Amino acid sequence: MTKWPQGFQLILSSRMHVKKAIFPVAGLGTRFLPATKAQPKEMLPVVDKPLIQYAVEEAYAAGVREMIFVTGRHKRPIEDHFDMTFELEVALEQAGKQELLDVVRSVKPDDMECVYVRQAQALGLGHAVLCGQRLIGNEPFAVLLADDLMVGTPPVLAQMVEQYGEWRASILAVQEVPPEQTRRYGIVAGTPVNDRVVDITRIVGKPAPEDAPSRLGVAGRYILTPGVFHEIATQPRGVGGEIQLTDGIAALLRREKVFAYRYEGKRYDCGSKEGFLQANVELALQHPVLGADFRQFLRGLEL
Ligand code: UTP
Repeated sequence: MTKWPQGFQLILSSRMHVKKAIFPVAGLGTRFLPATKAQPKEMLPVVDKPLIQYAVEEAYAAGVREMIFVTGRHKRPIEDHFDMTFELEVALEQAGKQELLDVVRSVKPDDMECVYVRQAQALGLGHAVLCGQRLIGNEPFAVLLADDLMVGTPPVLAQMVEQYGEWRASILAVQEVPPEQTRRYGIVAGTPVNDRVVDITRIVGKPAPEDAPSRLGVAGRYILTPGVFHEIATQPRGVGGEIQLTDGIAALLRREKVFAYRYEGKRYDCGSKEGFLQANVELALQHPVLGADFRQFLRGLEL
């Protein structure tokens, strides 16, 4: 697990309100075919770690200890990844490969719990979140989409937990998106509260540029109050029976405050091949062991 400065941990623990996170990982990953034909998109590695591990580490660093995975068919490798690999650990131990053993064991720290719930049919992100309702109960929770790889210091979800401590209301991570890309995002509009926070008055799912109320697009990190479950459950189904999280949040807005938070950091859209390649190159360049040689290699390419 990534280590953060001690002072930072202290601030978090004094305000730790978000203990559970939902990771919706039941999608079909069609944009990444054929790589995702028989393996989950969330298990694609960026440099040396699967996407889902980056998201789980981010949640852990934000104080979350219960990780709830909403899975589907073909998603077994995710469960295996966070399980103990007894034979591997014994083999590494016998070979005296302590460093690798530590790497393997650190995937799931002892104080972290992993729970799995099945989404029988990929009926949309809203439906996936709803599948976690019984496990969440009546408390605020985080939602992390692992295909959005977020890099920030402090980690993006930790920034949002801080904001939750301040506002005690749902918080959506947002970023400015180019006008031609509004169709890929939920777009929010509202009243600025400060440089980073907007009090949301409207949220629209994947609008055409001319219908977008702003250019603030929602990234794959949310802190939601449990009231959202009722709103998602009572939404009419859209095309193909899909239930959208954006519609649930739009309904929540009528009852509760919801804030947008411009996170500090960088997002890689690893659900797309382009974003995934960019993440691999940039994170490889920053890698403490591989970085220097990889930079040399890139310099040597005739581009
Ligand atoms: P995406 O919109 O990226 O869908 O879902 P997808 O199926 O994963 O990928 P493409 O678009 O076909 O390539 C965003 C997140 O929501 C999850 C996905 O696993 C992904 O993490 N999701 C989506 C579910 O868990 N269930 C669903 O029904 C839909």
